[in-house]
Amino acid sequence: MKAKILVTGGVGYIGSHTAVELQKAGYEVVILDNLSNSNAEVLDGIKNITGIRPAFEKMDMQDKNALRQLFEKHPGIKGVINFAASKAVGESVKKPLLYYRNNLVTMLNLLDLMPEYGVTALVFSSSCTVYGQPDRLPVDETAPIKLALSPYGNTKRICEEIIADTIYAGAPFKSVLLRYFNPIGAHPTAEIGELPLGVPQNLLPYITQTAIGIRPQLSVFGDDYETPDGSCIRDYINVVDLAKAHVKAIEYILENKGEKAVEAFNLGTGRGVSVLELIHTFEEATKVKLNYKIVNRREGDIPQIWANPEKANKILGWKAEVPLPDTLLSAWKWQLHLREKGIM
Ligand code: UD1
Repeated sequence: MKAKILVTGGVGYIGSHTAVELQKAGYEVVILDNLSNSNAEVLDGIKNITGIRPAFEKMDMQDKNALRQLFEKHPGIKGVINFAASKAVGESVKKPLLYYRNNLVTMLNLLDLMPEYGVTALVFSSSCTVYGQPDRLPVDETAPIKLALSPYGNTKRICEEIIADTIYAGAPFKSVLLRYFNPIGAHPTAEIGELPLGVPQNLLPYITQTAIGIRPQLSVFGDDYETPDGSCIRDYINVVDLAKAHVKAIEYILENKGEKAVEAFNLGTGRGVSVLELIHTFEEATKVKLNYKIVNRREGDIPQIWANPEKANKILGWKAEVPLPDTLLSAWKWQLHLREKGIM
């Protein structure tokens, strides 16, 4: 068995897929989650895939004492992958303090306690949102960090800076900041996937819910952007590919492969895909017709962004592999699974 890794927010969408890949790579996983936006049944899904039920603690990381108790109860944690955070952009605009408190206090508590318990590796779940609309595409890690468009985006930037400042001040751990582009899809077994509560804000869950009839129609937010087909362009990255990057990142720190104590990596495919292209690829892959219409632009959307993932390719030895049609099929299979189970 390799090192013991704490996965905060490990019941959530990306956290659960990462717990699976960590276990498959031989790591021992401890999951912490307050279940504010997730369901503990996900742990069954993880067990069904890997054969191992990870240790689980239901707790809120804003409670520093509770976090301390977790480290006492699970001695020998070597690395932390910090997913635990609030993540709805629109909600963060309406409730900024909720976002600043939750996303920042949890990070501060973690950074305080890590040295006390001998944790030497921190992987942080960041976002390409820190680049805003980049001046040059594809965007690489040297691009300037721009003013955030939402409190959510701001918490990602601030957390990156807090981690860096703490390490530059001599904290005895190293960190990898992973800047995700647009994570989509589900585990190919359909045991775990994305479970949006209420009306989905993100594109792919909206697509699969429209395809299955939960939503009558998908709105495409704008076809008058300066892009080849007029709709926005994003870099859609398969969630299992993304999860595997976290295993590489933990290995990179624990096996001392890097020189820098804190380092950021883009996680994307390197290919920009428009909203309309995504819709048509979904239709072709699943043979399901989508009812959609073009509506006005959504406020706050940037026209286009996609990654230059070469740094992660070269230094982490990680590359996005799953073809887009397979990723879209996995999301569809997951939606069908939710229907079969009567969940949605
Ligand atoms: C959003 C967040 C980003 C966050 C990411 C992952 C914003 C501005 N950014 O990215 O910070 O990291 O989610 O959670 O909200 N679209 C439609 N119809 C829909 C939904 C979306 O046309 O019903 C379009 C959007 O205009 C966009 C693309 O689909 O062009 C992707 O949207 P979405 O999935 O919400 O992700 P982002 O906005 O890129």
